[in-house]
Amino acid sequence: MKIITDPTELQRQCLDWRKQGHTIGLVPTMGYLHHGHTSLIDRARTECDKLVISVFVNPAQFGENEDLDSYPRDFESDRAKAEAHGVDLIFAPEPGSMYADNHATWVEAPRLGEHLCGTTRPIHFRGVCTVVTKLFMLTQAEVAVFGEKDWQQFAILRRMVRDLNMPIRLIGHPIVREEDGLALSSRNAYLTEEERAVAPNIRKGLLKLVDKAKGGERDCAALKQFLADEYAAALPMGEVDYIEIVDPDEISPLRTIARSALAAVAVRMGKARLIDNILIEV
Ligand code: PAJ
Repeated sequence: MKIITDPTELQRQCLDWRKQGHTIGLVPTMGYLHHGHTSLIDRARTECDKLVISVFVNPAQFGENEDLDSYPRDFESDRAKAEAHGVDLIFAPEPGSMYADNHATWVEAPRLGEHLCGTTRPIHFRGVCTVVTKLFMLTQAEVAVFGEKDWQQFAILRRMVRDLNMPIRLIGHPIVREEDGLALSSRNAYLTEEERAVAPNIRKGLLKLVDKAKGGERDCAALKQFLADEYAAALPMGEVDYIEIVDPDEISPLRTIARSALAAVAVRMGKARLIDNILIEV
C-alpha cells in the first residue's frame, strides 16, 4: 500500500494507473477510521482495480468555532485498517498543499445547503464540495463511495456531479451502527460514559417517528414536536440543533408527508454534535 502526501504525485500516480487501463475507486474520509468507513472501503473495493482513500481533515469545511483542531486523529491506526481492507493508496496531504494562501475557487450548491446542517454550518458544504472536487480531479476516480449518515452531504455531491457533468459514479452506503443503534462517528470519541449511554435514544426516537408516520400522522409539525418531546425526555443532556423533515433530494422542509421524506436530526451532547437520519416511506 502506497502513502502519498503530495497532490501532484497523487495525480501522476493515478494518471499512470488510468493509462495502464486500471479503474480507480475513491473513498474520501477525514480519518480516525471506524467500521462505517471500512464498510465504504469494502464496498468500493468491489467496484475498481485501484482503491484510493483520502485521510484529510479538511479545514475549509470547519467554521471558526468548530472542532478542526481537536478533531480526533490516529494515522497509524488508519494505515493499518486501510491495509487490512485492501486499500492500494492512502492520500494524506497537509492542509498547505491542498489550499494555497491565495486559494480563490469554490464549488457549491447553495440551495441544497440552506437547511439541516447548513443552518448552523454556513460554509460547511462549500468546503466539502470543493475538497471532493479536488479529490476527484487528483485521483481521476471513476467511482466514489459516500455514507448515507451524511445524507445532505451525499445529496449535494450527487447534484454537483450531475450539474457539472463530472465523469464519476457515486455510490451511497447505508448507515453503519453500533449494536445499540448509535450511528458510528469519529465524533463519538468525544462522548462521556453518561452521554454514550443515552445517545442511542437519538435513533430510537427516529424509529418511533417513523411508526407514528406509518400509523397515519402526516403533518410534519406534529411529527417534529413528537420527536422534540421524545428527546426532551430521553436525552436530558442533549441539546437539539435541529429536527427536520425534508424532501430527500431537494433537502427542503416539508409540511406534510406525501410519499417519501427524510427525517434528519442533529443533537449536541457535551463536546459532540451527533447527526442521524431515517427515510420515511408511506
Ligand atoms: P468523514 O466524516 O470521515 O466520513 C467519511 C465518509 O464516511 C462519508 O461518506 C461519511 O458519510 C461516511 N460515514 C461516516 N460514518 C458512517 C457510518 N456510521 N455509516 C456509513 N457511512 C459513514 O464526511 C466526511 O468525512 C467529509 O465531509 C469528506 C466527505 C471526507 C470531505 O472532507
